[in-house]
Amino acid sequence: MNNQHARVLTVMTIAMMILSLGVGPALAEKKKHKEKSEEELGFRSESLYSEEKEKPAHGEYSKTEPGKSRRIERAFENSPPLIPHDLTGMLPIAETNNACLNCHMPEHAKSLGATPLPKSHFTDLVTGMDLKGKLDGHRYPCMECHVPQVNIPEPIKNTFKADFRKKESRTSSDLLESLNEGVKTE
Ligand code: HEC
Ligand code: HEC
Repeated sequence: MNNQHARVLTVMTIAMMILSLGVGPALAEKKKHKEKSEEELGFRSESLYSEEKEKPAHGEYSKTEPGKSRRIERAFENSPPLIPHDLTGMLPIAETNNACLNCHMPEHAKSLGATPLPKSHFTDLVTGMDLKGKLDGHRYPCMECHVPQVNIPEPIKNTFKADFRKKESRTSSDLLESLNEGVKTE
């Protein structure tokens, strides 16, 4: 064997040692963890191609009438509050009929114990223009952002914890006052 052959052999031996050290345990690992079938993926037990058997869990929406329900703590600072009360007879919100406004417009809200629409809903947030008490058109379909809740177990536990800088932010919003926080305007 000449020198060059000996060197190639040494390199190959080292390479084999490295491979047997690295790949060996990896292969064993693969055998231990059986591959998952599609049915086992995710948190639903059915095939991803079948919609018939797996019914999404449904709960009951609140049946407590407005005025008697309890406000739900805000999910995070200036998040859209969740709807705590029954919505029977109020939906759908139509172009010429929005029942939510009957109670939530500031002029009615106070006497009814409802939370008045905030200033942000009477402001054009694109231009910053104060609409002087006229509701911004983008806010008309309330349930694009505000939703009711049902009491069902979460399929995946939500560990998100909101940080409220002020105690009041847990139950009320001040978006318009805080929107430009940290932004320098000329
Ligand atoms: C008959 C009056 C009435 C109507 C109509 C009404 N609400 Fe309410 N709403 C209330 C009252 C009163 C509260 C406060 C909780 C309570 O006392 O039940 C409230 C609470 C809320 C809250 C929670 C506010 C907070 O500070 O946490 C949201 C969001 C809300 N309503 C959205 C709506 C939407 C959206 C509609 C239309 C689909 C609607 N409401 C229709 C009276 C009403
Ligand atoms: C585009 C999303 C969006 C739409 C549409 C919308 N809201 Fe809101 N709403 C929010 C957000 C975000 C907040 C919290 C930040 C703020 O005050 O703007 C809020 C806050 C509120 C509050 C709490 C005010 C306070 O002082 O704490 C009420 C009540 C409310 N909205 C009712 C309504 C009703 C009723 C409608 C329909 C007429 C509506 N909103 C439409 C996003 C929306």
